[in-house]
Amino acid sequence: MMSQMMGWIDARFPLTKVWKEHLAEYYAPKNFNFWYYFGSLALLVLVMQIVTGIFLTMNYKPDARFAFASVEYIMRDVDYGWLIRYMHSTGASMFFVVVYLHMMRGLLYGSYRQPRELVWIIGMAIYLCLMAEAFFGYLLPWGQMSYWGAQVIVSLVDAISPTVALWVRGDYVIADATLNRFFAFHVIALPLVLVILVFLHIVALHQVGSNNPDGIEIKAKKDPETHIPLDGIPFHPYYTVKDIVGVVVFLMIYFGIIFFAPEMGGYFLEENNFIPADPMQTPPHIAPVWYFTPFYAILRAIPQKQLGIAAMGLAVVIFFLLPWLDKGLVKSIRYRGTLYKVALGAFVVSFLILGYMGTLEPTLWYVNPVSRICALVYFGFFLLMPVYTKLDKTKPVPDRVTS
Ligand code: HEM
Repeated sequence: MMSQMMGWIDARFPLTKVWKEHLAEYYAPKNFNFWYYFGSLALLVLVMQIVTGIFLTMNYKPDARFAFASVEYIMRDVDYGWLIRYMHSTGASMFFVVVYLHMMRGLLYGSYRQPRELVWIIGMAIYLCLMAEAFFGYLLPWGQMSYWGAQVIVSLVDAISPTVALWVRGDYVIADATLNRFFAFHVIALPLVLVILVFLHIVALHQVGSNNPDGIEIKAKKDPETHIPLDGIPFHPYYTVKDIVGVVVFLMIYFGIIFFAPEMGGYFLEENNFIPADPMQTPPHIAPVWYFTPFYAILRAIPQKQLGIAAMGLAVVIFFLLPWLDKGLVKSIRYRGTLYKVALGAFVVSFLILGYMGTLEPTLWYVNPVSRICALVYFGFFLLMPVYTKLDKTKPVPDRVTS
């Protein structure tokens, strides 16, 4: 009965073919480690954000008069509304945690390099979309931080082109029209683009195959008879089972936060956002959510506004160029020399410090000097990469993956 049904479907849709090509007979390197959990976890968070978002939309009102109250209503009166809302707000931060770790894996193992340039570029497009998605979503609760955060970012657009800023706001100030269009982008336009990009990301990855912690192309050594990579194992069941372990641990942390610290000390949900938006009252300290603060710190570190905006933009888009900036002979950090290790270490430290500086008040004397030094290290990592990766004394790469 079952095989008859499958036969019926397969004659009309390539179900078994897709299952085999992308799971049961998709050969992934056998040496995946901890860093390879985050792709499937990003996929999980994407689905959870969409599902919880649909349920939030059932009770949320995209109207400047009712938006704040509708969120309070969801939190207090709607059955399990608090759970759905905290899953969504915590999910937003966890999305960035997972994606930053996913990108870090790329830097560790040179996953952005030939032949995976397109996987990386599509990944970066996903990252830009994710930033826009988070920014639009943050206005929706219509709290003080929603309002003034949007005000700061749109004023950056205003500094470049007042016409575009007017078009973004739909009004001369952040107002009901802004809320309506941000809602439209947040609930349908960007999620649609995100899902399409993630699909393309995985199609592009499966075309070339996964990299691994040794940075060795497993397709180069195949069994002469079966043509299966000698260092490959079928994605299903091996990595489906491994990924489930990651999912279980991730869900424990995720629900731990939801149940015990949903505001995460003001990092996931900011205190000022529990006050309804008031266009007549600027909060004393405006800071974006933690995942934007490294870029915000770069913006503030440069006194000239347009230059600051340019530096902030460059800090994000420069990642697109990584495949062409890296001139190293090897991909993985395991076989790189000291120069790359020091550069990557300095970059990660500068990114973390910038992130912290971005949360602090700019009036503190050390915030701008420290941000400037870290911004130099940050850009140095990229701009000097062609030099230090070429000079770096690499180690010999083994023929086969190590386990
Ligand atoms: C919604 C966000 C994303 C999802 C759902 C996603 C999903 C995935 C999945 C399922 C994989 C294969 C499993 C793995 O290698 O972990 C993967 C690989 C990869 N992703 Fe993403 N990704 C996302 C964002 C990004 C971003 C922002 C970048 C970088 C800018 C990126 C770069 C890569 C690279 C280079 C690989 C290949 C890694 C390797 O083979 O070593 N991804 N992604």
